[in-house]
Amino acid sequence: ALQTSFASKAHTQDRTIRYNLQPQASFRVAVLGAAGGIGQPLALLIKMSPLVSDLHLYDIANVKGVAADLSHCNTPSQVKDFTGASELANCLKGVDVVVIPAGVPRKPGMTRDDLFNINAGIVRDLVSAVADNCPGAFIHIISNPVNSTVPIAAEVLKQKGVYDPKKLFGVTTLDVVRANTFVAQRKNLKLIDVDVPVVGGHAGITILPLLSKTKPSASFTDQEIEELTVRIQNAGTEVVEAKAGAGSATLSMAYAAARFVESSLRALDGDGDVYECAFVQSDLTDLPFFASRIKLGRKGVEALIPSDLQGLTEYEQKALEALKPELKASIEKGIAFAQKQT
Ligand code: NAD
Ligand code: LMR
Repeated sequence: ALQTSFASKAHTQDRTIRYNLQPQASFRVAVLGAAGGIGQPLALLIKMSPLVSDLHLYDIANVKGVAADLSHCNTPSQVKDFTGASELANCLKGVDVVVIPAGVPRKPGMTRDDLFNINAGIVRDLVSAVADNCPGAFIHIISNPVNSTVPIAAEVLKQKGVYDPKKLFGVTTLDVVRANTFVAQRKNLKLIDVDVPVVGGHAGITILPLLSKTKPSASFTDQEIEELTVRIQNAGTEVVEAKAGAGSATLSMAYAAARFVESSLRALDGDGDVYECAFVQSDLTDLPFFASRIKLGRKGVEALIPSDLQGLTEYEQKALEALKPELKASIEKGIAFAQKQT
């Protein structure tokens, strides 16, 4: 069978998605923003999962064709399309995992924070519908700026009285995917073996790869550490510039988001050995939200992994302190936006 590995062996033990397999579980997944650059390939990858019985695709336009197209793939899940706000509630009822890549992407010269004015309201409204229709679902936020949209989502869920911090995730898997790729290339390691935790947030210097915690352990010169760190932090911009106005990362993002969905479904299915990095409510630092490695279980975040933040190198410790003011400001901006609305 054709197989693709979404996860590195080191921490997730070479989980695979097998195509054209018999169903192995029957979870329901919704993608909000499913007709977009990320949404379409992400929907395709989720359609390949044997853990999914129902795939609900929602967008404000163009989603009917995407669903018709995908529904012809002979994999187990049933695909349904939902267009516009009047169909959002039906899209969400009974769903186990909601993935949100809705919103506008960057163009060259923009920061992720420049997307705040449009995407903050989109995330607020979509999460409000999630709170009303599937409050127990895992929520995966992809829409940027993640450092602010996750705190917005948390506030909305609190206002609705259904906030479960264990089930709200900012998707930072792409940072790990990039770190693994770049480190494997640089150190000539087998890709499948490499796992680099990436902590902090998901913008510029708030993205902090912990190269000293690379598995299998690898040694880096100071120059390699600097170059790899900067490349990982700027990888999103690298793609934005290469696409020259046509958007930001979509295919690698879909790959990364599908990995995070698959990990969540495995955790929901009772697998007791699922670890990923994500931007979550956290007490690992003095910031209320922080990306780190987490252990996933049936109820969401089962544990944060504090050991990653212990024994940091001087370079990493300095970078961690340097990122805190920016990350704090982005979190507070999100919270203030959501609180202003009530
Ligand atoms: P895109 O413009 O190609 O697609 C966005 C989709 O969202 C469109 O189909 C649009 O119709 C839809 N949409 C807009 N408003 C909506 C609403 N109210 N409800 C439902 N759907 C709505 O953009 P893209 O390239 O797919 O990127 C989407 C977002 O993901 C951007 O904000 C981007 O910055 C972000 N992103 C995040 C990461 C990450 O690592 N977390 C990586 C890449 C991109
Ligand atoms: C990424 O890291 O690729 C995304 O956050 C999109 C972007 O704007 O860079």
